[in-house]
Amino acid sequence: MIHNLFRIKFVMILMLVSTSLILSSCQPQNRAVDHEQISREERIVIRFSHIVGEKTPKGMAARRFASLVKEKSNGFVEVQVFPNGYLYRDGEEIDGLLKNDIQMIAPATAKITSFVPEWQALDLPFAFNSIGEVHEYLEGEIGSKLMYGLQREGFYPLGLWDNGFKQMTNMTKPLTQPRDFRGLKFRIMPSEIIRQQFLELEAGTQSNSFNEVYQLLEKNKIDGQENTYSNIVSKRIHTQQKYLTASNHGYLGYVVLLKKEFWDQLPEEVQKILQESIKEVTDWEKEMARKMNEESLQELKDCKCVEIHFLSKEEKRLWEEALKPIYQRFEDRFGAEYINQLPRNKGAEH
Ligand code: SIN
Repeated sequence: MIHNLFRIKFVMILMLVSTSLILSSCQPQNRAVDHEQISREERIVIRFSHIVGEKTPKGMAARRFASLVKEKSNGFVEVQVFPNGYLYRDGEEIDGLLKNDIQMIAPATAKITSFVPEWQALDLPFAFNSIGEVHEYLEGEIGSKLMYGLQREGFYPLGLWDNGFKQMTNMTKPLTQPRDFRGLKFRIMPSEIIRQQFLELEAGTQSNSFNEVYQLLEKNKIDGQENTYSNIVSKRIHTQQKYLTASNHGYLGYVVLLKKEFWDQLPEEVQKILQESIKEVTDWEKEMARKMNEESLQELKDCKCVEIHFLSKEEKRLWEEALKPIYQRFEDRFGAEYINQLPRNKGAEH
């Protein structure tokens, strides 16, 4: 009797075990994988190269993006961040991306204008009254067109990050009136609209990589430059300049880019992780950029090493007046919609 009971129990256990084995073999292949056990060769590595320091909005966002991707992919996707142009210098990183030596970059929008010239709309002086207006512009029809332009050129734009508004600095005199620019030489980013901005003010320009600016100023090869507070402070530019005009005349932001061919061959699951991570980081980055620029302005005020002039309403009006011809030229070349769609002009007859 006892023997029989024991046999029945044994058969039941056997049935249970085989049923669970059959069920587990029917599970889809997305079971949890311990990625710590995966060799380096099996991981997806994304080399993210950028040209600014670690303690900048872009530098911090790149790091945060890397750790989010690691966490979400359980270590399967490794984003390696190379700051300060260690891997690829300014002006060379797009080449590196297209050659697939690096897989991710976040250049200033002005630096992709040789591929998609319409991006120069963001460089138009005094085009936006606030960062909110920039976001509105980029989230609308124009933004989609600009993003599509990048795809057509073989890029995959993953996201848009802010830095902030640019300010003018120079060594020679306070810049309050358009005529104050006359004869001075400024370093600029490679954008035709930015070049025209200084040309209208009768100033000279030269386009140099960001990492050269400090030395150019130190050696008196240029008189001034334009940049955001956080970039000025992170590169110690203010230590080589006497005057800063808080003009907020132009926007500086970034497009986070991959090569489209690289993106297309990533597994769908990985694409999803990258998209989710960039979304999370972007919300954080925008707030971080705003805060860092505020803190950097405070640092500039506190150091008392540079004379800061806040452009008055009337001075701003004069600068805008002097720079107006650029708008007409831009409109003639790319069409009125880029200007009509600026939040400040929306609904108004242009
Ligand atoms: C950057 O913020 O990426 C650099 C901007 C510049 O070249 O001035």
